[in-house]
Amino acid sequence: MTVTVYIDQTSGVDAAGRGTVDQPYQTLAFAIFLTPAAAVETTRYQIRKASEAQYDAPTQSATKKAKKDAQGLEKKRLKAEAEERESRERQEKREKKLEESKKIVLVEDLSLPTPIKSKIVRLVNYRDKRVRVCGWVHRKRDQQDIMFVVLRDGTGYLQVVFTGQTNKTYDAVTLQLEAAIELTGTLKLVPEGQKAPGGHELVVDYWKVLGPAPGGDDAFTNKLNEQSDPSILADNRHLVLRGETASNVLRLRAALLSAFRSTYAEHDVIEVTPPCLVQTQVEGGATLFKLDYYGQPAFLTQSSQLYLETCLASLGDVFCIQESFRAENSHTRRHLSEYTHLEAELAFINFDDLMTHIETVICESVDKILANPATTALVKTLNPSFTAPERPFKRMSYSDAIAWLNEHGILHEAEDAEGNTLKDADGKPVMVPHAIGDDIAEAAERQMTDIIGKPVFLYGFPAELKAFYMQKMPRKEGETGPVFTESCDLLMPNVGEIVGGSMRIADGPELLAAYGREGIDPKPYYWYTDMRKYGTCQHGGYGLGVERLLAWMANRYTVRECSLYPRWPGRATP
Ligand code: 4AD
Repeated sequence: MTVTVYIDQTSGVDAAGRGTVDQPYQTLAFAIFLTPAAAVETTRYQIRKASEAQYDAPTQSATKKAKKDAQGLEKKRLKAEAEERESRERQEKREKKLEESKKIVLVEDLSLPTPIKSKIVRLVNYRDKRVRVCGWVHRKRDQQDIMFVVLRDGTGYLQVVFTGQTNKTYDAVTLQLEAAIELTGTLKLVPEGQKAPGGHELVVDYWKVLGPAPGGDDAFTNKLNEQSDPSILADNRHLVLRGETASNVLRLRAALLSAFRSTYAEHDVIEVTPPCLVQTQVEGGATLFKLDYYGQPAFLTQSSQLYLETCLASLGDVFCIQESFRAENSHTRRHLSEYTHLEAELAFINFDDLMTHIETVICESVDKILANPATTALVKTLNPSFTAPERPFKRMSYSDAIAWLNEHGILHEAEDAEGNTLKDADGKPVMVPHAIGDDIAEAAERQMTDIIGKPVFLYGFPAELKAFYMQKMPRKEGETGPVFTESCDLLMPNVGEIVGGSMRIADGPELLAAYGREGIDPKPYYWYTDMRKYGTCQHGGYGLGVERLLAWMANRYTVRECSLYPRWPGRATP
């Protein structure tokens, strides 16, 4: 009996069709694909293009093409079938392995030498010895009968090899990234031609899981990756920190702080720890975080400068590494609401000494990092083209900087008398050349440092742009115009200002007048004013933004990458 199969190219459906008049297929290829091979030649195919047309036999060429397409469909089907079978076999194998693994109990061979407990960084001393190392599973690669793990313990990375029974336990079969494990085995040089951190690998003879980590949806790699949205990365900063780049930045940060401490010690500058809870302002009221302090107003410190000044007559030159807080609504690459502020204060110096000292401390600290193979390796990994800055640093007065910006066509946004940005008819800010008295905005400053391409001191800013405590520049007889201060900002390429410093008003009455001009009540500042009463002296100091210096050295896009748990407007978690 001849079987007739119907194909309606308009209203037919391949997968759900049945080849009948009521439920035709859509393509001839599919109809042939479903027909048993032996029956293709005897089957009567009836095809129509449109649903209103008559069914007809397909042309010879259409049949030829459809047969070829049907072969393609068959190939696809066979491939899918094979894949499904393989996946089922894999799953069965895994389940079998898992079941078998439960029977394997790893027992430490106590006839082996007692292991030496070591951090990864110290392992080089124990080649060919039996060692015990703890850490987290940083990377994992399974091969036939062998598993490679890269272990991380914060001091370094170690390649670990699991073979034989050590690779067959339930813990081995279910091991996940980020699990905490304890490993015991022999440290071997890696075979010729192979690479591993430190040039050696641990061949495990006994191990255990100390703290497992989840797989599946909760697996570490499903929580975040390099392409994750910035807000996901921020929420998971505690996990981001486990990554190589983030931990390298933090390691470099630690090295930098330690280098500064050692440089200060060499220059007889002593470390102090001023309070963070304060009742005086330093850099203006607009950026203070206010809080209730036992019923009294208090603030989180903006700068420890005033306290450092009080230490001069007690300890001599001093420095601190302390958190500073700025309630600035700035969402820029270089602003944090809380940052680490490295500040120093020096007695019996002049303005030139101050700038020379800043340059010396930075360069000597950077040199220390570069002289140490471990820390120079960190810099090279993060910022391969980094070189120590040339000394002396370029110095440019504020007035020259204004002229330089205008010569280079770098404009700034025009403002009205109330400080509002002026807009043109299209709503775009009106851009105008710089004039003496203008603040040099972040964008202009950045363009300037990028063109100059090396560290530059801008100095001598107008008094009206700067804080109340700054020493005025001496004026020549009969000189008029704006009053400038003995102040300086150090600008670095890619980052902009990393240091702000100045000489301080040493004269008591002049300081009182400065409070008055700024509308500051001198009463809470009695201790600061006393400095000028009991043995005043010429002195000056500076504050350096640690995250900004790090962003420059480690070539990070934003200071947020340079802080352990960065805070910016709206973000104080984790
Ligand atoms: O220029 P600033 O405001 O100076 C002072 O606070 C002085 N009282 C310091 C002193 O003389 N002891 O801040 C100093 C540095 C800046 O150059 C910048 O590097 C950093 O602190 N800084 C910030 N870093 C990150 N986020 C912010 N919001 C910052 N504000 C200032």
